[in-house]
Amino acid sequence: MAFLIGEAMTGGYGGADILHDCTISVEKGQIAVIVGPNGAGKSTAMKAVFGMLGLRQGRVLLDGRDITALSPQDRVAAGMGFVPQNANVFTSLTVRENLEMGAYLRQDDYSITMEQVFDLFPILQEKAAQPAGELSGGQRQQVAVGRALMTQPSVLMLDEPTAGVSPIVMDELFDRILEVAATGIAILMVEQNAKQALNIADRGFVLVQGRNRFTDTGQALLADPEVRASFLGG
Ligand SMILES: Nc1ncnc2c1ncn2[C@@H]1O[C@H](COP(=O)(O)OP(=O)(O)OP(=O)(O)O)[C@@H](O)[C@H]1O
Ligand SMILES: [Mg+2]
Repeated sequence: MAFLIGEAMTGGYGGADILHDCTISVEKGQIAVIVGPNGAGKSTAMKAVFGMLGLRQGRVLLDGRDITALSPQDRVAAGMGFVPQNANVFTSLTVRENLEMGAYLRQDDYSITMEQVFDLFPILQEKAAQPAGELSGGQRQQVAVGRALMTQPSVLMLDEPTAGVSPIVMDELFDRILEVAATGIAILMVEQNAKQALNIADRGFVLVQGRNRFTDTGQALLADPEVRASFLGG
């Protein structure tokens, strides 16, 4: 069984169901990527796994434990870190304060974790005293990822971490994400840059209208002519 699994999830925001029997999973130390057209339910699937959405059917398991009934805050305490698609930094707080916010659940000394975040994203140390709102898009995404890492999660969930950044910044961010995965953390991310993301993915999920359309290794999806033609621009 996978380390994190959203299994046969069906549900939505109170009206019609958005997710239909949708299954998403990721292993420790691996990268799983969710791709699919706008409105396919990628963010909804992430919110469901993080507990921001009531499921009508299905369940979420973390390391074999059924966490379906847990609140998002309790899931953070259980080892999940989530970077949402929008509004993922506190713009009026400094970079350091944003990182400290990420550690709010910790009672222990988190200074070593902050050093690790600064090692991963050196620009954040340089800009530690600056309001996050003054940073570039790519730098803000680093703040958001860094904040999620401050709880020392076993699973890191990222909804479009490279949105609005240049190809070079995207490549750098993917390199950092690979580094994080190599430490044993499970990475579950949604990506618009589907080809590049599948290229670093151990597993890929193509969602269409809230359903699993294709599920395979990243490389197999990249090599599949039907996936290429319909979802990867040829
Ligand atoms: N808070 C909400 N309340 C009601 N419906 C919502 C809400 N958020 C999203 N939806 C609907 O759920 C469906 C899936 O949206 P979702 O944001 O999950 O798609 P997505 O695959 O993440 O798209 P994108 O690539 O544009 O980010 C859409 O039809 C959307 O209108
Ligand atoms: Mg989305």
